[in-house]
Amino acid sequence: MKNIIIDTDAGHDDALAILLLIKSRAFNIKAITTVAGNSTLENVTRNAFFIRDFAARTDIPIYSGYEKPLKRELVLAVVHGASGLDGMNLANIQYKLTHDADKQLIRLIKENPNKISLLTIGPLTNIARAFLKEPKLPGLLKQIVIMGGAIDCCGNKNRVAEFNIFVDPEAADIVFRAKVPKVLIPIDVCSDMPLFLSDFEKLHGSELYALIMKMMREFIKGIEAYEGTKGALVYDAIAAYYLLNPKAFVLKPMDIVIETKGEYTRGMTVVEKRIAAKKMHNAEVAVKVNREKFVSDLIKMLRK
Ligand code: RIB
Ligand code: CA
Repeated sequence: MKNIIIDTDAGHDDALAILLLIKSRAFNIKAITTVAGNSTLENVTRNAFFIRDFAARTDIPIYSGYEKPLKRELVLAVVHGASGLDGMNLANIQYKLTHDADKQLIRLIKENPNKISLLTIGPLTNIARAFLKEPKLPGLLKQIVIMGGAIDCCGNKNRVAEFNIFVDPEAADIVFRAKVPKVLIPIDVCSDMPLFLSDFEKLHGSELYALIMKMMREFIKGIEAYEGTKGALVYDAIAAYYLLNPKAFVLKPMDIVIETKGEYTRGMTVVEKRIAAKKMHNAEVAVKVNREKFVSDLIKMLRK
């Protein structure tokens, strides 16, 4: 089985991604690390424990990371509600904050050189801190699959930036400069494929049906209210699906830099598109996803 680590700011679409990866039984999930973003570090860590324990996988260790970006104040998402997982009963969830996600990332990657795929579905603060602490780390990772960025479409946190990159642009800058194979799943391909309750209804009769319907109903409300789109933009589940079925994706090499100075463009993933310019490709970017395959595999895996 492929070894993976999931770095998450556990909101609704993160939950779907984590459940997909667990239920697929295709991965050795070495750890889940948490980072503030969709909600506070405490809330997203509690949410991660809720999701993992609901899937009866208490064997997967959860390590919490940093409660704020490298250099900036934390800006939270709104679509997931104050808890980060509104709609779920999170009252009595047992959870622990370890504040050592970067240390654990370094340990696990060093113990499994070139064998770990890192899936990042939140701001990149933990990854950047691990790279700063251990400069050799990028060379020991098999790949990083990053949910983030907006290439040819508008942002979802400011006019041009996607939320995960917007929250900690300095961290994203470190990760995008790092010499490690990167696959980027940007908003562009996610916005084209909203999922509806009718899609999730196909889970009827399975053990996750009630939880996922409740979660997605809440998420659809948030997306509609704050992003003006109908349906659930399951960004993180699409990024997780890349690990399951990369053949369902069309990738294009791109030369991307991260805007860390702009007043209006903070967090923008700026692509070199000039024909004559020398390109320094630093990411393979998803430009197309087979929606039908994604939805049918998502439902099939979650029904297992
Ligand atoms: O912009 C979408 C990303 O921001 C997703 O990872 C979502 O969970 C939020 O973290
Ligand atoms: Ca996320």
